[in-house]
Amino acid sequence: MKIKIGIIGCGNICDIYFQNLKKFANTEVAACADLVLERAQAKAAQYKIAKACTVKELLADPEIKIILNLTIPKAHAEIAFKAVAAGKSVYNEKPLTIDLADAKKLLALAKKKKVLVGCAPDTFMGAGLQTCRRLMDKGIIGKPVAATAFMMCHGHESWHPAPEFYYKRGGGPMLDMGPYYVTALVSLLGPVARVTSSSQIMFPTRTITSKPQYGKKIRVEVPTHAAGIMDFKQGAVATIITSFDVWPTQLPRIEIYGTKGTLRVPDPNTFDGPVTLITPDRKEKKIGLTHAYAANSRGLGVSDMARALVSGGKHRANGEMACHVLEVMHAFHAASAKGRHIRIQSICEKPAALTPRKGR
Ligand SMILES: NC(=O)c1ccc[n+]([C@@H]2O[C@H](COP(=O)([O-])OP(=O)(O)OC[C@H]3O[C@@H](n4cnc5c(N)ncnc54)[C@H](O)[C@@H]3O)[C@@H](O)[C@H]2O)c1
Repeated sequence: MKIKIGIIGCGNICDIYFQNLKKFANTEVAACADLVLERAQAKAAQYKIAKACTVKELLADPEIKIILNLTIPKAHAEIAFKAVAAGKSVYNEKPLTIDLADAKKLLALAKKKKVLVGCAPDTFMGAGLQTCRRLMDKGIIGKPVAATAFMMCHGHESWHPAPEFYYKRGGGPMLDMGPYYVTALVSLLGPVARVTSSSQIMFPTRTITSKPQYGKKIRVEVPTHAAGIMDFKQGAVATIITSFDVWPTQLPRIEIYGTKGTLRVPDPNTFDGPVTLITPDRKEKKIGLTHAYAANSRGLGVSDMARALVSGGKHRANGEMACHVLEVMHAFHAASAKGRHIRIQSICEKPAALTPRKGR
């Protein structure tokens, strides 16, 4: 049975969703909408979608069971509330919302309305991170004692045509890229108990050097460097740096350090490997991927949510985990501002592991 999906927000990221949701056996994009109707019409024509319409019309369509919210972060909460109020399940691009209070209200409303909330990223369901999950579940690296995660670059004003939003509320390296890193760690280690951090704005203004806004100055409003510590409930202590302030480094993306060895985890913004195991004798072994979905499979989380809508059970890229990740990300900045650890109030379960490919 195919669940009918309505996409709201037909910008940069929508193509991969239009493409992949055609491939899954249980999903069908039945309509799309955008503030700029012509954008929705263009995508409907390109992907042979039956209906391009306004947001209001899409939300009123009784056939549509899931709203896929691909609007900009500032509009995530507004669209998600409207979807849930209309009795539909909603799957947001990341972050779930900008404000934590909105995320909590959204989950409460969804519970009342008996609909589901999901959220990107779903990269943790990909072949690379699921292979890591399997190795960890099998105890190959022993008990995790620590982890590191690094997302470090010099920002986006040199190439992005409209980079201002990266430096305004809802942007910054933590809210923009943190969802991939924190979600990957939570999917492997479970929920976070407390965090602390030093966050800063190193460059109060940025000058755009990309076109068409070359020379325009941006006033930076959010921390562009956050060096944080996460104490996971299961005991591991993770160090994370997200930065738009530094030039290239050779640091790994994510590593998990266990009592028996080290696992080098792939870039959590991809679905692929490589996965590397490092043993105490310093030998590095590249591990073959045991799971499906090594290609860009954005939308896998939506398909999993469609499965849960039909057969019950929990979907993996769920609102509780996204809300927990959002709380953690905000807590880094709050910890720095207050000069202390912040205890994380929300809780989530480690999402269920996927089954390996046959013969693995
Ligand atoms: N671009 C990427 O590579 C990328 C990658 C991963 C995740 N994301 C996430 O995907 C989301 C969208 O990013 P994007 O790059 O496609 O942005 P975008 O600006 O290219 O597209 C967003 C679209 O949403 C529409 N929109 C905005 N507010 C709306 C509203 N209230 N109602 C209806 N339509 C509205 C805009 O008109 C626009 O067409 C963001 O949450 C972003 O964090 C983007």
